[in-house]
Amino acid sequence: MKTEDIKAKIKGDIGQEIFFYEKVVSTNTIAFDLAEKAKEGAVVIAESQEKGKGRLGRIWISPPGVNIYISIILRPEIEHKDITLITIMASVACATALRRTTGLDISIKWPNDLMASGKKLGGILTELKTDQIKIACAIIGIGINVNIDITEFPEDVREIATSVKNETGKPYPREDIVAEILNEMNKWYKILNDTDKKTLLSEWQRLTSTLGKDIVVIVGQNRYEGFAEAIDDEGMLILRLPSGEYKKISSGDLTILR
Ligand code: BTN
Repeated sequence: MKTEDIKAKIKGDIGQEIFFYEKVVSTNTIAFDLAEKAKEGAVVIAESQEKGKGRLGRIWISPPGVNIYISIILRPEIEHKDITLITIMASVACATALRRTTGLDISIKWPNDLMASGKKLGGILTELKTDQIKIACAIIGIGINVNIDITEFPEDVREIATSVKNETGKPYPREDIVAEILNEMNKWYKILNDTDKKTLLSEWQRLTSTLGKDIVVIVGQNRYEGFAEAIDDEGMLILRLPSGEYKKISSGDLTILR
């Protein structure tokens, strides 16, 4: 990855400072360590991760030289109740950037999966440092499968995951995609900090493939099956259960049934 090529395309504050590593345990962990001294909008980029972190304690497969592994350090000025909107903001930025750079029909599976042809192409892991009053720091970790050959994935993952190259049939410069993600993030982060929820949520709704479907969500030990009706102003998923009752869900593992 050539960081000069990324820097040359950066338009706003996000991505002005880039920390590049060949190999890390996890870019999110490095970003946490740097969070206090780094400028807001600083980005950690690695060529590979030894223990890339996925959501729900899973491992994010992170071989060298083919994919994108980045973590962005932000200090959002939002209330605790709006925490889910950080990931909503990041997923809108990533989906828009990927659509523009690759031409693929990328959609968002709630809360944060980036999907192409019904398979996962990327994911976002937001980790927070908070105190009683405010969010001190948000680390937005983004993993995108770009030029990986899907035969490199373990067999069970191959069924559910894809890459840009696998979808388009050709390799893409990762630098262009990273720069576009950072520029889009700059735009959507301003919208989040202005608490312009309407603009953010309506764009998320335009890009999602989750609403209007029958789904199952696993939340810890609980399993909820129902109709994905909407997301509320705080980014929570509103599920209509078979009983007709509504259930609000803030995070979980979601499968679309039909
Ligand atoms: C998910 O499970 O969908 C989230 C995956 C997030 C992976 C990225 S790769 C860069 C950053 N560093 C990590 O350790 N994880 C995130």
